[in-house]
Amino acid sequence: MKPIKVGLLGLGTVGTGVVRIVEGHQDDLQSQVGSPIVIEKVLVQNKNKSRSIPIDADKMTEDPWEIIRHPEIDVIVEVMGGVAQTKEYILEALERGKHVVTANKDLMAMHGTEILEKAKRHQCDILYEASVAGGIPILRTLVEGFSSDRITKIMGIVNGTTNYILTKMSQEGASYADVLKEAQDLGYAESDPTSDVEGLDAARKMTILATLGFHANVALEDVSAQGISSVTKEDITYAKRLGYEVKLLGIAERQDDLISVSVQPTMVKQSHPIASVNGVFNAVYVHGEAVGETMFYGAGAGELPTATSIVADLVAVVKNIKLGVNGKQSGVAYKEKKLKTDEQISSKYFLLLQVADRAGVLARITQVFADFEVSLESVLQQPNPSIAQAEIIVITHDANKAAIQKVLASFESLDVVHKVKSVYRVEG
Ligand code: NAP
Ligand code: HSE
Repeated sequence: MKPIKVGLLGLGTVGTGVVRIVEGHQDDLQSQVGSPIVIEKVLVQNKNKSRSIPIDADKMTEDPWEIIRHPEIDVIVEVMGGVAQTKEYILEALERGKHVVTANKDLMAMHGTEILEKAKRHQCDILYEASVAGGIPILRTLVEGFSSDRITKIMGIVNGTTNYILTKMSQEGASYADVLKEAQDLGYAESDPTSDVEGLDAARKMTILATLGFHANVALEDVSAQGISSVTKEDITYAKRLGYEVKLLGIAERQDDLISVSVQPTMVKQSHPIASVNGVFNAVYVHGEAVGETMFYGAGAGELPTATSIVADLVAVVKNIKLGVNGKQSGVAYKEKKLKTDEQISSKYFLLLQVADRAGVLARITQVFADFEVSLESVLQQPNPSIAQAEIIVITHDANKAAIQKVLASFESLDVVHKVKSVYRVEG
């Protein structure tokens, strides 16, 4: 049996997991695909760095072209990260007829269309299951499991680092900075964790999920993204008191073929299953017109969970090689993309206002909501003696995003509102 030869680009957290799984599960893999899978060459930045797994020195290289242009390598597994240089490597690998498996959501969210087209032209597979939600096989589920349904909503906790931080802040009162450092030490965070905490990593993943789920070419620029750096312990305490958890949620919705995709810290009703997804775990809730509600849960980052998705893609590529059907992925984006305007995006909102504590204030505030036809579900006022002001918490009924923006703009010139402390979307 001719072995399938793999060129591994990167031997960090995920690359190490790939080697462990390919070597540790070799018998099972071989039984499934009918050939040994061999890691032929490994690209690293620094060959002299100490590694947590034994690797033959002659397999390691610092020269990417030695792998990309290697005549015997069948499949490239890209787990080095980065965009511009990595795109160049992947495009050339595809041109040379090599199949590609990648965990790189940045690359796929930004250049997925171009890469998929190139793969198809050269009859190669490009699979990227590990790019979203680590160990959860959600891309395959959307493409295959939901092929008979029309998905109307995808709601995900798709960034492990921020879920880890919010969980520790909520359950242990830990400080944001300390927990971020922990998440970095555990290998969950990106090399620049700004993309985790500012919601960009989640936005990239939602771009991929929305494109596959709604069959339209959603671009990263179509996703409005806000991260967790402004979430305070006070917000989390208020949320819990009202029966909510604060989660960084990616929300993609489709109604009459109109799409909206966003990422924002969201107050999720504690009774919603996604509210109890804690730590580095991810979950993707999918609503289909026919199937109704479903939810997929698992480790969203880390060495072995992410590597399982990579190696599962590798198995799929090798099975396709055996069947001679590589590069036959059908078009994922066959619908025209139509985005919702802010007037068409609707949800409930939570607002925490710091206001003057005197007669008539509540009436003036509720009048602003009425002016923009925002109906209120609940209003809670409590004095804050430490600042001689009152705090008002408002939860609205479903309201459109444009109306909420107008309410917030009006508060800026309303003397009784001293500060809008927080605004959250509400789900569940
Ligand atoms: P990592 O730990 O930083 O590892 C990166 C590896 O790539 C290292 O071995 C590094 O070499 C090598 N590398 C980086 N730039 C290189 C270059 N220009 N030339 C040669 N080698 C280079 O990263 P990671 O956490 O494994 O993540 C890898 C990819 O998977 C990223 O796209 C990430 O977004 C994605 N991902 C990660 C996770 C996770 O849980 N970590 C989950 C899902 C997806 P040295 O070892 O010599 O420095
Ligand atoms: N930094 C990412 C996360 C890694 O925390 O979810 C997995 O994509």
